[in-house]
Amino acid sequence: MALVEESDLGTPARRSEQNVTLTVDGRPVSVPAGTSILRAAAGIGTKIPKLCATDMLEAFGSCRMCLVEIDDRAGTPASCTTPVAEGMVVRTQTDRLARLRRGIMELYISDHPLDCLTCGANGDCELQDVAGEVGLREVRYGYAGENHLADAKDDSNPYFTYDPAKCIVCSRCVRACDEVQGTLALTIAGRGFGSRVAASAGETFLDSECVSCGACVQACPTATLIEKSVIEVGQPEHSVVTTCAYCGVGCSFKAEMRGDTVVRMVPFKDGKANHGHSCVKGRFAWGYTTHRERILKPMIRERIEDPWREVSWDEAIARVASEFKRLQTVYGRQAIGGITSSRCTNEETFLLQKLVRAGFGNNNIDTCARVCHSPTGYGLRTTFGTSAGTQDFDSVDQSDVIVVMGANPTDGHPVFASRMKRRLRAGAKLVVIDPRRIDLVHTPHIDAAWHLPLKPGTNVAMLTALAHVIVTEGLVNEEFVRERCDLAAFEEWAAFVREPRNSPEAMAPVTGVQAESIRGAARLYATGGNAAFYYGLGITEHSQGSTAVIAIANLAMATGNIGRAGVGVNPLRGQNNVQGSCDMGSFPHELSGYRHISDSATRVMFEADWGTPLDNEPGLRIPNMLDAAVGGRFKGLYIQGEDIAQSDPDTTHVIAGLKAMECVVVQDLFLCETAHYAHVFLPGSTFLEKDGTFTNAERRIQRVRKVMEPRNGLADWEVTLAIAKAMGYPMHYAHPSQIMDEIARLTPTFAGVSFDRLDELGSIQWPCNEKAPEGTPVMHMSGFVRGLGNFVITEYVPTDERTGPRFPLLLTTGRILSQYNVGAQTRRTQNIVWHQEDRLEIHPHDADQRGIRTGDWVKLHSRSGATSLRALVTDRVAPGVVYTTFHHPDTQANVVTTDYSDWATNCPEYKVTAVQVSPSNGPTDWQRHYQAESAQNQRIAQPLAAAE
Ligand code: SF4
Ligand code: SF4
Ligand code: SF4
Ligand code: FES
Repeated sequence: MALVEESDLGTPARRSEQNVTLTVDGRPVSVPAGTSILRAAAGIGTKIPKLCATDMLEAFGSCRMCLVEIDDRAGTPASCTTPVAEGMVVRTQTDRLARLRRGIMELYISDHPLDCLTCGANGDCELQDVAGEVGLREVRYGYAGENHLADAKDDSNPYFTYDPAKCIVCSRCVRACDEVQGTLALTIAGRGFGSRVAASAGETFLDSECVSCGACVQACPTATLIEKSVIEVGQPEHSVVTTCAYCGVGCSFKAEMRGDTVVRMVPFKDGKANHGHSCVKGRFAWGYTTHRERILKPMIRERIEDPWREVSWDEAIARVASEFKRLQTVYGRQAIGGITSSRCTNEETFLLQKLVRAGFGNNNIDTCARVCHSPTGYGLRTTFGTSAGTQDFDSVDQSDVIVVMGANPTDGHPVFASRMKRRLRAGAKLVVIDPRRIDLVHTPHIDAAWHLPLKPGTNVAMLTALAHVIVTEGLVNEEFVRERCDLAAFEEWAAFVREPRNSPEAMAPVTGVQAESIRGAARLYATGGNAAFYYGLGITEHSQGSTAVIAIANLAMATGNIGRAGVGVNPLRGQNNVQGSCDMGSFPHELSGYRHISDSATRVMFEADWGTPLDNEPGLRIPNMLDAAVGGRFKGLYIQGEDIAQSDPDTTHVIAGLKAMECVVVQDLFLCETAHYAHVFLPGSTFLEKDGTFTNAERRIQRVRKVMEPRNGLADWEVTLAIAKAMGYPMHYAHPSQIMDEIARLTPTFAGVSFDRLDELGSIQWPCNEKAPEGTPVMHMSGFVRGLGNFVITEYVPTDERTGPRFPLLLTTGRILSQYNVGAQTRRTQNIVWHQEDRLEIHPHDADQRGIRTGDWVKLHSRSGATSLRALVTDRVAPGVVYTTFHHPDTQANVVTTDYSDWATNCPEYKVTAVQVSPSNGPTDWQRHYQAESAQNQRIAQPLAAAE
């Protein structure tokens, strides 16, 4: 296997309907107007030496290495900054050019350490390559003059170093940070010979505004900015293209390997979701895959109080099967179930729901999407007819107005946020609707046109007030509504939103946002050109989560902002495969492709394929399974890659449910919180150890490719296969591609998908079938999936979770860039330097009233429970609102969240909890006990891992 090479054409592509023809070294070439000579030449295989140019960045023209001669033009212009012209005649290789290039290179090398053989970049250094290309043999100036060779290194970032001695001041890093990442953390400080790259105001990289995305490292043509892993392990020898296993953006990476060791993850330029960019998690936070706490051997125990006993795979599988069979014999067929994971592949997820439906003989299958985006499924299906976001990410490049509601893209979906920021810097307008002043509201060169800091729990009131403005001020796109939507439903909806009780003025006391701001935002959305709506869990995780999704869809239809590029309704999916786990039939009532289990035609097709009758009644959702367990009716659960004891609401109830079961099987990488209540632990494999596919937030199906053998001996899909066989329902697949073939056979929206086709096209956005053989980037172009768009009335019903004298503040939760969900993976990487604990954000006014300062321990209590954490006093949150993350199990923010949930889908209401905050002396008794228990469990884990 070799390294996957990617070409660098020197400058970005230009789009133009007009083509220009020129000759380069006597060869004709035709390119779109605006293309650089450098790129035009590269297109016909003519390589012009370059240092400061790369096709990821706009040309800068500083290194002068790419000089060319042009007929009828004086001098030797830089080919990277000179656009092509009709009839232009260009020479790239002449004696004069060679002399000039060698001279420039000589100057660079005279101020560069001569340590190529021991340099980490040796073999992957553009300076070295170009020095060879221009034929530099000697440096006439010697190395004794003034130089930077003694400049101090900055090793502060855990993942990369900055060695100014090697810097050629090409500014690629600065431009990468500006243009690609949009953080603007770097600058060239000083002048002339004293010019050097500086992070923020001359701070270390770690202390600066840098978010460790690594774009500058990737852009650097020398070893000035280089991954520490490359220095430690050496240059990679081969690479495999795969997909990030963190968030729903779905970035493509080249996993660059030396033997079996990952040297680095390099964002893949051909990746359609990320176009060569990444965030700190995907690029750097893969160390958990070899963390010493990973469990690599199956374990069982009789009772959850007993110590774990390491066993063979055969014994563990036999135990699972015999226990599950016993439980069904004693308590009935419905007494067991399974939970699929949005971290696992489509193939693994499909297999697990098949095991439950065909092997267990019931539909007690659910997924962690239950607790995040199940309302998206319900809301978008009800209005548009299908349960998915409408656009591809590229669509944002054509948006004029971007509304972000209940999402924090710079932390949650960072690579897409960078893309969005680029569009905003280019002039698109931004509306942020969020209780918190998220980074996007004011970030370099971006100021939101409107920030509506609504009270948590009032999304539907806000959305309906926006609709009121659109309907009453004559901003409805009547033509779109007439042609594409159900008119009767529209009229009914319009009459409802028109009512004075839904006006911004009437809703201002409810939402806490001034009416004029609501009116301004509504007018901008309706009249500002292409308007796109992006939302996240701040919409779905509410008692009216589904209603809010419907309300967003209503707005898009009323204004005609749906069915073309630049517009749409776009859920920002949390986990890497949330979309896929829903697509694959993980919900108890739906088979793959969102077809109801009661639909006999669909069921018959599955029964024929799977060779067994299926239950036609929907099974239990996760909360119902836990309730039934507490009630004594539900006894066994197979949980694949999901930590419900930490991630699900009302932890006390979750634990009670788990404790009430007789056989809990947990399949995971680490002894997670849920594993404390398990009887069988099956070690899971990481994304680096398996083949399959993930589907990102754009419905984009992408390959996950194995770069190393599973350290535990089996990929997750093989474990499910073994359990199925032991349960008496053998399934026969030799490779995950065969599982995808079955998915395609049984799921019309996946009909054209196969591993071969994915290898050929790179990725495919479903629906992919005869009508759309290469997939569907933008949905509902010529009509809604359900036919006519359906407007639905969205009556605001306040949540039952109310503030009062005992609990006067509202808690809302979210996540930060460096950590991921319950933190099981990111906490086991050096990302921990950026977030060592969860903190409670509290407004200065509320903090003052309670005598709380930043850094103080505070007790956070609600009707459900209490926890302690340290405070961060900030006006990012409004008075009356507090906010925290949920990445650390010893904080357990979900101890305080309630069991209220979305009326349609049971998605928990994480985002609204009435709480009180008071000074405290440190962790609660419960937390101390919990920490001791966790430490005990980790002690169990370590010798096992060490024994591997
Ligand atoms: S790592 Fe990313 S954010 Fe940090 S300086 Fe480099 S490009 Fe900028
Ligand atoms: S650090 Fe690298 S990319 Fe940045 S100016 Fe120096 S050589 Fe160029
Ligand atoms: S944005 Fe998401 S998918 Fe991309 S690298 Fe970061 S975590 Fe991975
Ligand atoms: S590559 Fe053109 S000036 Fe540097």
